[in-house]
Amino acid sequence: MQTLILPPKPENLLRAARIIQEGGIAAFPTETVYGLGANALEKQAVKRIFVAKGRPADNPLIVHLWDVSQISSVAESLPDYAGKLAAAFMPGPLTLVLKKKACIPDVVTAGLDSVAVRIPSHPVALELLKLCGCPVAAPSANTSSRPSPTDAHAVFEDMDGRIPLIIDGGPCDVGIESTVVSALGELPAVLRPGKVTADEIAAVCGGISMDIPADRERPLSPGTKYRHYSPSCLTLGFFEVTDRLKEQLRRFAEQGKRISVVAFESALVKFEGVRKFSLGENETEAAERLFAHLRAAEKGADVIFVQSPPRKAMGGALYNRISKACGEQFAD
Ligand code: TXA
Ligand code: MG
Repeated sequence: MQTLILPPKPENLLRAARIIQEGGIAAFPTETVYGLGANALEKQAVKRIFVAKGRPADNPLIVHLWDVSQISSVAESLPDYAGKLAAAFMPGPLTLVLKKKACIPDVVTAGLDSVAVRIPSHPVALELLKLCGCPVAAPSANTSSRPSPTDAHAVFEDMDGRIPLIIDGGPCDVGIESTVVSALGELPAVLRPGKVTADEIAAVCGGISMDIPADRERPLSPGTKYRHYSPSCLTLGFFEVTDRLKEQLRRFAEQGKRISVVAFESALVKFEGVRKFSLGENETEAAERLFAHLRAAEKGADVIFVQSPPRKAMGGALYNRISKACGEQFAD
């Protein structure tokens, strides 16, 4: 199959919408990362997503809508606090997990009785969703376990020959995936950190649940148990540029290993003789650049060192992605 990359002109959005309406899959930009969409009401269509990504069947998908009023067509109810969250953060990088309606097939939710819903704020995504006229199941448009794609080229890298069309909306603004919040309990619970932080959620709802069982067999957000965001070479995290870290780098260099360093500007200037990729000056810039830099840094490298901000920064979202990318291996 030939994979086209087309700009978001009306005729190309129509083409993508037609593919999705006819049971196919197509990739499109959102403000977080690129998504790979299928008609969420069609079991066979959704299965194609799992095949294209090599995604485990027990990892459920987010259903994308274009308006808050559609939530009631896929979810049984919207608890009061969830309604407040929808009003505050939708459209935007927030996903709500709600009790599902029967129209959503099991393949979307991996057999759970809940459904994750999100309304992206990217104008191209909204336009495409409206043209489709159906709820669209869409995971990040990467091969399973790889860093999420934040531009059309990264989607192409993973999906060339597997999907007919990628709508190119340029680089994504946010750069990391939406905050996933369970609205199944008395209080909201963050299942995956993102740009919308736990503090912001607690401020809107008047509280937040800290009680997230670490049940590995049947986790609340199944996707969080798998290898994720991983470059193709050895990847090590670090927090500060210490003597111990420099010593590790020196040892790799002595073994003839090619080293890439992905770090904040202030740390990057302390490295020599390595390929450098700047995460910029702050967490917002870092989120925007992280996945693209991991994909660039792995090329021609034997090892990547990637700097994480402290756990607390940006609600821990960057720490979450970086610790997974390096398989929890921190050099220092
Ligand atoms: O920003 C985003 O959320 C992007 C863009 C494309 O919208 N999508 C995305 O989808 O990141 P994906 O499939 O890569 O991640 C979906 C996450 C997974 O961790 C999954 O386990 C969780 O949402 N999830 C989906 N449905 C769920 C459910 N019913 N209950 C709990 N977690 C769920
Ligand atoms: Mg993903």
